[in-house]
Amino acid sequence: MKVFHYKKALENHLKNLKKQGKSIGFVPTMGALHQGHLALVKNSLKDNDVTAVSIFVNPTQFDNPDDLKKYPRTFESDLALLKNISPEIIVFYPDAHDFYDGQIKSQHFDFDGLENEMEGKHRPGHFDGVGTVVKKLFEVVQPDRAYFGEKDFQQLQIIKKLVEKEHLPIEIVPIPIYREADGLAMSSRNRRLTKHHRTAAPFIYQVLKQSAILFEKENLETVKKFVENAIAAHPYLELEYFEIADEQTLKPATQKIAGNKYRGFIVVYAGEIRLIDNISLVTSS
Ligand code: PAF
Repeated sequence: MKVFHYKKALENHLKNLKKQGKSIGFVPTMGALHQGHLALVKNSLKDNDVTAVSIFVNPTQFDNPDDLKKYPRTFESDLALLKNISPEIIVFYPDAHDFYDGQIKSQHFDFDGLENEMEGKHRPGHFDGVGTVVKKLFEVVQPDRAYFGEKDFQQLQIIKKLVEKEHLPIEIVPIPIYREADGLAMSSRNRRLTKHHRTAAPFIYQVLKQSAILFEKENLETVKKFVENAIAAHPYLELEYFEIADEQTLKPATQKIAGNKYRGFIVVYAGEIRLIDNISLVTSS
C-alpha cells in the first residue's frame, strides 16, 4: 500500500497516473475510520480507476482546542481497514508543516452565506478551516470525483459551492448517512462516548424520525417544540440546536412550501461529545 507524507510526491505520482488516462477518486477524511468512511471509499473504488484517501486531523477547522487534542487518531488501524478493502488505495497522511507550507492558518471564504448558518454560527471559523484544507487537498490530488457524507450536510453544500466558485472540474458525490444498527449516525467521535451516553445517543435519530412524521402535517413551530422538549426531557442529552432549513440555501424555513426540499438539522451534546445528525423532511401540504 502506498502512503505519502509529502504533497509534492503525491502530486507527481497522481499526475503520472492521470497522464496514463486513469480517473482519480478522492475521499478526504480525518481518520478514525468507520463503516461510513468505508462506504465513501467503496463508492470511489467502483467509480474510478484510482482511489486516494487522505487522513489528516486538520487543525484549522477546530474552534475548540480540547476537541482537536482529543480527536481520535488511529492511523495504524485505519491503514489496516483500507488495505482490507483494497491494497491499491493510495493514502495521503500529510505532514502538517509541509502541507501548510509552514503556516497553519485558514483562508477566508465567501460561500454565499451558506457558511453563516447553523454550524457556522456555533463553530466560528470552522468552514474557513474546512474550505482551506479541502481546496489545498484538491490542488494536490486533482481528483475527477470527491466523496462526502451527508451526515455533515452543511459541509457537503459548502464543498459544492467551493467547487462552483473556484471553477474546479471535480464532481462532488454525496453519500447517504451510515447508521449503527440502533440508528446512531456513524461518527469518529462516537468512540469517545461513555457507556451511558452511547446508550442514550440513538434517541437522537428516534426523535428526528418522529419529527419527519410530524413535519408532514404540523406547522414548523410544533415540530421544533416537539424536538426541543423531547431532548430536554432526556437525562443524558443536551440540545445545542435543532433547525429546519431549506436544503439548498440552508436558510431557516419560515413556512412550508409544497415541493421545496427541507431538512431537520440537529446537534446534541452527549456528555462532552458533540453529535451531529440530520434528516430529510417532506411536506404533504
Ligand atoms: O468531514 C471531515 O472529516 C473533514 O471536515 C474533512 C472534509 C476531511 C476536511 O478536513
